[in-house]
Amino acid sequence: MKALESIRIGDLELKNRYVMVAMGPDIGDFGQRAIDYYVRRAKGGASMIMVNVMATKEIDGPTPSALLNEESYDGFKELVDRCHKYDCKVCIQIMPGVGLQTKAPDREKPSSASATPIYPGSDMTFHELTKEEIKFIQGEVSKTLKLAKKAGVDAVEIHAYGGYLTDKFMTERWNIRTDEYGGSFENRMRFLNEIIDNTKEDLGEDFPLIVKFTPNHYLPAEDGYRDIEEGLKIAKMLEEKGVHALHIDVGCHDNWYMAMPPIYQQDMVLQMEASRQVKKVTSLPIISNGRLGDIGKAEKALENGWIDIVGVGRGFLTDPDFPNKVMENRTDEIRYCIYCNEGCINSVSEGRHIDCAVNPETGYEGVKTLKKTDDPKKILVIGAGPGGCHAAIAAAEAGHDVEIWEREERLGGNFYNACLPPFKRDGIKVLHYYRTMLDRLNIRIKYCKEATPEEVLRYNPDKVINATGGTPIRPRSIKGIDKDNVTTATDVLQNKSILGDNIVIVGAGLVGCETGIVLANKGKKITIIEMMDSILPEPVFIQNLMMLTQLLDHPNIETKTSTKLMEIRDDSIIVSKDGVEEQLYCDNVVLAMGFAPNNGLYEELKDKIDIVNIGDSVQARRVLNTVKEAHDAILAI
Ligand SMILES: Cc1cc2nc3c(=O)[nH]c(=O)nc-3n(C[C@H](O)[C@H](O)[C@H](O)COP(=O)(O)O)c2cc1C
Ligand code: SF4
Repeated sequence: MKALESIRIGDLELKNRYVMVAMGPDIGDFGQRAIDYYVRRAKGGASMIMVNVMATKEIDGPTPSALLNEESYDGFKELVDRCHKYDCKVCIQIMPGVGLQTKAPDREKPSSASATPIYPGSDMTFHELTKEEIKFIQGEVSKTLKLAKKAGVDAVEIHAYGGYLTDKFMTERWNIRTDEYGGSFENRMRFLNEIIDNTKEDLGEDFPLIVKFTPNHYLPAEDGYRDIEEGLKIAKMLEEKGVHALHIDVGCHDNWYMAMPPIYQQDMVLQMEASRQVKKVTSLPIISNGRLGDIGKAEKALENGWIDIVGVGRGFLTDPDFPNKVMENRTDEIRYCIYCNEGCINSVSEGRHIDCAVNPETGYEGVKTLKKTDDPKKILVIGAGPGGCHAAIAAAEAGHDVEIWEREERLGGNFYNACLPPFKRDGIKVLHYYRTMLDRLNIRIKYCKEATPEEVLRYNPDKVINATGGTPIRPRSIKGIDKDNVTTATDVLQNKSILGDNIVIVGAGLVGCETGIVLANKGKKITIIEMMDSILPEPVFIQNLMMLTQLLDHPNIETKTSTKLMEIRDDSIIVSKDGVEEQLYCDNVVLAMGFAPNNGLYEELKDKIDIVNIGDSVQARRVLNTVKEAHDAILAI
């Protein structure tokens, strides 16, 4: 495989092409936890790890990124030394500033290149950085990078992408300065170019230097965003400046789903198109990222010559060992990302430290790491959704004897249904991982087996993990709920319903909206009603929300909020909005009103046997919660 071939960035040789791209993890300034988090990825076979640091927090205040200074130096050095033991190079990614909403407590406003609105449509404008502040930031960049070199880093990456501070300086939309840092192309590039010049002076002309930038924001150039023409000009400029590799990204915070593609992004990401174009105008190695933890896509991008180095972010969170697994022909054991963004970027954005929906050890290396038991137990797992599968695999890896009972004929529980929409199909890959590992670990799995309390007691396990999931809610109080024309979103997604052309979906949560899109794409006319005053009333993380909202903008879909289902008739439903009743004609009613926990078995057994209830059988929630509870239950044995 091309990804396993070595490659050079200037004088630096990487043993393979899988590089972990920077992810500010919000786990402090190189304490033990942060060190363990990075070293775990080095051990897993990454050829280089990019470690994000801020130059200073005096302007932007607290951010998820670390600071490298005299206090954190020893921890950082330990990180570098320990990564090197695995022949994994370390690249420090320096972030000169944020340029978004954050600000240091003693500052009146967030700062940026110019006094433009803080976000599109905002009345509040940024504080325009003064020249003294610019010099201060650049000085802090220099100080940090000198320390990094002293600690033994192998490369530097300058963070200049995605509408953050450096990109703000570089982009007409956000840079309306009239001094030498604004206006012409040369002036807008000055902030970055001065940092490049300083870095070369401080670290040496040949010290491997990478710039992560955005050649195309994929937003209208007439609104001041960058188009590819200027992007290519920047690429050529950087090559002339003596940069050793280019790291290509696309989008910005105004279309953030492009920079951090969610599950709905099934096609090759636009980063590949931008890289392909940049490749034509430079001879520098190109790194790019964007769901390239899907190793088949990464290999294609390498083979096609769009990129030279595979940047992987979230894929390293779900499976730190994936490069080694590729090397050892164990690709079927890769635990793929489900691109939910719930544990990683969502946690970090909300001020919690990094986390992962399918890998509960991420961010908790050394804290939640499973250890081999010297007292093996007999474990029965009931339910083979992500929680049940994770519990079974974790228990078997810890050395316990494990059996799973699953009432369906397959793995996955309700998560399987969630992956059925064609625009989410990649999610199913994590189920392939579960299937492989259940097999490799000789976990017995009995399908089509509905657990009864008597049978569980007869089986006599030492511990039961109850992961029985949830059942779609069908409120008995609604007149007509049992009519033939009523079905559930779950049955629709599984193609178990016969539907006419006009469909009403009841409930505009994730399941209702996604089911609506599936049916609209089949040519059905869809009305989604929601009793709350907005669609998607539950929190959906911003990148996923942005892209889902685009998909919902479909000519066949109409949404009605603050609208309550009152009655179902043979040819219509009665709804109430603001106390006024209305009749909506339709062929079918699809219920997407949430899931009720299947907790009956747990309730019957909880006083008779050692049993723990996890996931949706406690309360319908996300994969993140379910898998975390599964892991904790096994750690507690
Ligand atoms: C939790 C998290 C933090 C991130 N922080 C940074 C960062 O500090 N610097 C950066 O350049 N990109 C950052 N990114 C973006 C990633 O480097 C990468 O561009 C993006 O996740 C797409 O790659 P992927 O699909 O392989 O995850 C972050 C991404 C995540 C998920
Ligand atoms: S939280 Fe979700 S998107 Fe983030 S790394 Fe884990 S599986 Fe992937």
